[in-house]
Amino acid sequence: MTADLRHEHFTIRPGGALRGALTVPGDKSISHRAVMLAAIAQGVSEIRNWLAAGDTEATLGAIRELGVQIERQDANTLTIHGGAMRQAAGPLNLMNAGTGIRLLAGVMAGQDFPSVLDGSVQLRRRPMKRITAPLKLMGADIESHNGACPLHIRPAKLTGITYELPVASAQVKSAILLAGLYGDAPTTVIQPGPARDHSERMLRSLGVEISQDGADGNTITVVPNQHLNPLNMTVPGDVSSAAFLLVAGLLAPDSDLTVKGVNLNPTRTGIIDALTEMGADIQLSNVSEQAGEPIGDIRARTSQLRGIEIGGETVVRMIDEFPILMVAALKAEGETIVRDAKELRVKETDRIAVMAGELRKMGAEIEERDDGFRIIGPQNLTGAIVDGHDDHRIAMSLTIAGLVSAEGTIVTDAACAGDSFPGFAEALINCGAKLLPSAAQSP
Ligand code: S3P
Repeated sequence: MTADLRHEHFTIRPGGALRGALTVPGDKSISHRAVMLAAIAQGVSEIRNWLAAGDTEATLGAIRELGVQIERQDANTLTIHGGAMRQAAGPLNLMNAGTGIRLLAGVMAGQDFPSVLDGSVQLRRRPMKRITAPLKLMGADIESHNGACPLHIRPAKLTGITYELPVASAQVKSAILLAGLYGDAPTTVIQPGPARDHSERMLRSLGVEISQDGADGNTITVVPNQHLNPLNMTVPGDVSSAAFLLVAGLLAPDSDLTVKGVNLNPTRTGIIDALTEMGADIQLSNVSEQAGEPIGDIRARTSQLRGIEIGGETVVRMIDEFPILMVAALKAEGETIVRDAKELRVKETDRIAVMAGELRKMGAEIEERDDGFRIIGPQNLTGAIVDGHDDHRIAMSLTIAGLVSAEGTIVTDAACAGDSFPGFAEALINCGAKLLPSAAQSP
């Protein structure tokens, strides 16, 4: 992986095949969890291929502020001395990281010192009641600002609870399970669908007693007051980052791209299932296991896609991939309908409204629905100047839309791509895309 090109605008032009084999940076969800779990584990943890990106650096910075000793062999290799957290000197700034603040709130609720968790203007707009409500049921002393951050957390005795998640959110599930480590009795979370299960896998690998029951394993119970062994792991590549390259490979002419070493956890691969159902030529190979997670290589070749309907459990398994799915749907033959995806409205931005609004600038016709959207394709996209809205997945999806537009496109506010995928522009350039990360110019 070469150094990140963090520029304000991406100018992307259509044309040419995308070819080659490449890797993507480490998984964001696992990287957040890795530094938090290493901080509370007893002993010295080693983390390789850690994602050094905007969101995860914010979490790492917070952990450092909490007095945890961290050595950095290089940007992606961390040694963390766990088991000795103390009160931070000031508020912890989680920047744009929703996962960072929500999971850390669960950990902080169980500490014997107070903390204040805050973030960017964008993060301050995101709902926190979804975690403060269950944490308060556990006895946590946690105060929000009208249901948003900053969160003021003071030491309190936590009890075990059984909590049914109103939405299938891995962030909420994880916050409760992490707080559950500090309870006076086991804590059970019942999820309505298969939200990503990295926390459960990682806790189990550190020796924590955590069970999954019920027909689909949707009832998760953690036993408190356990010794966490140190973590020793290589973070697999992020399938959510790979998705942008795979869709680019499917839509660009004469293309053949392979993304290697990608996390294939079934709670994350809804996008591969959806694209395959759309007729995509996608193949998995070299499937193995790494750090308790399935990984493999994903090859995508130019394909004529067709529209499909997506709803129910698949939505949860690809919740971060709908911005790029929208681009694929615009180029697919026929009707694509997405339902049950209202959660998209409370991500870094309202991803239904923002994507529809920006793609309309490129001439797209998209029917917005309360819980999803309807697109009839294939549609021609024209050149335009579109805005990334400080939302990494919006900026990267619009870049791929520009790649398959007639004249090319400028994506402004594209630096946020580095919040999850440092080197995104370079990865595309290396495969043959005509992308210029620079100041605005006409397409
Ligand atoms: C994440 C869970 C998802 C996802 C986010 C990362 C995680 O959010 O959108 O990007 O790491 O747990 P929700 O669990 O709130 O749906």
